[in-house]
Amino acid sequence: MTAIDALSPTAQAIARAEAHGVRNYAPLPVVLRHGEGVWVTDVEGRRYLDLLAAYSALNFGHRHPRLVAAAKAQLDTLTLTSRAFHAEPLARFTEGLAELAGLDVVLPMNTGAEAVETAIKASRRWGYDVKGVAPDRARIIVADGNFHGRTTTIVSFSTDADARRGFGPFTPGFDVVPFGDLDALEAAITEDTVAFLVEPIQGEGGVIIPPEGYLAGAAAICREHGVLLIADEIQSGLGRTGETFACDHEGVTPDVLVLGKALGGGIVPVSAVVAREEVMAPITPGSHGSTFGGNPFAAAVGAEVVAMLAEGEPQARARELGPTFLEGLRALDAPDVVEVRGRGLWAGVEIAGARTGKECCYALLEQGVLAKETHETTLRFAPPLIISDPELDEALARVGRALA
Ligand SMILES: Cc1ncc(COP(=O)(O)O)c(C=O)c1O
Repeated sequence: MTAIDALSPTAQAIARAEAHGVRNYAPLPVVLRHGEGVWVTDVEGRRYLDLLAAYSALNFGHRHPRLVAAAKAQLDTLTLTSRAFHAEPLARFTEGLAELAGLDVVLPMNTGAEAVETAIKASRRWGYDVKGVAPDRARIIVADGNFHGRTTTIVSFSTDADARRGFGPFTPGFDVVPFGDLDALEAAITEDTVAFLVEPIQGEGGVIIPPEGYLAGAAAICREHGVLLIADEIQSGLGRTGETFACDHEGVTPDVLVLGKALGGGIVPVSAVVAREEVMAPITPGSHGSTFGGNPFAAAVGAEVVAMLAEGEPQARARELGPTFLEGLRALDAPDVVEVRGRGLWAGVEIAGARTGKECCYALLEQGVLAKETHETTLRFAPPLIISDPELDEALARVGRALA
């Protein structure tokens, strides 16, 4: 028997994963084997309520039967073609998503960061070809505390030192303004500004909700100055906040909507940029693409996600359960909790006390709850939107015990 054989199944799996896997994450010490709905089971048979839901990529829960059926049907038909040829599911996906978003055209990609990159490239090209910005002068305004992904260009305008350290030289052309500050946005606009890229609610930033009227105000300023409003709804969109998109709370349709995470139904990476026709017109064959973007398997799953959202049930659940969830968190007898922010089934719980956010996550794990801190002092909860009333009560009871 080797030393590794003497370890528990959990410790064995972690030792093996760490032997050859780069440690760019620091996962909690739990090894998951099975998921269904809101629940996951680890290799030792312990069950947990998944209140992270893969940062909202699992808005419809683990292995939603309708999404799994769509995926299986497509697996038995056609999986990959490349975009050198047409394949049937993509049209269903783009038609449905454009209609859901109230916009004209859809450019499919895979990960969130790729979709953000796509929006950056498209808005720069629109700036040169349509707005008339001088060559290589285009600038994009972003918000302090943003999180838009991990590529070299995207970390170029991150304000998080950990995300940037050691990764320069950075891509130029970005201006950072305080999140929630409309005067600063307007003051930062110049004749070279092509876009304002913003998360309607900052997710990784700690579920930070801007002042009422911020998005509507930003949309008006952008319209007045001929600047594109790009809403990154990769985390906030697709039902999470109780509306299809977080922008809907202020009646705003952005020029460009960036989506990912839940668009893949918890099955496959699917992201997309949805925009007005004019914005994407300068994107011509050969100028941008992805081998896997819009592949038949991803498009079939994405089309089913869009169909579910078009029926409205996930948004309605988030709207119905959101107040119970947020009030329930606020009512906990939890000495380290200083603030609970949120919208729909999405909460940021601010911790300031004896325990760090990470220590709270360990306490949650012991109570059979999976969650993750962000920025050390915020616990982020984003249960699958299919959570039942009794499951939500159970979740609140467990969180209460962990944070008592
Ligand atoms: C708002 C936002 N944009 C972009 C991303 C990047 O997505 P991905 O990790 O799929 O590249 C994330 C991921 O957390 C996000 O929350």
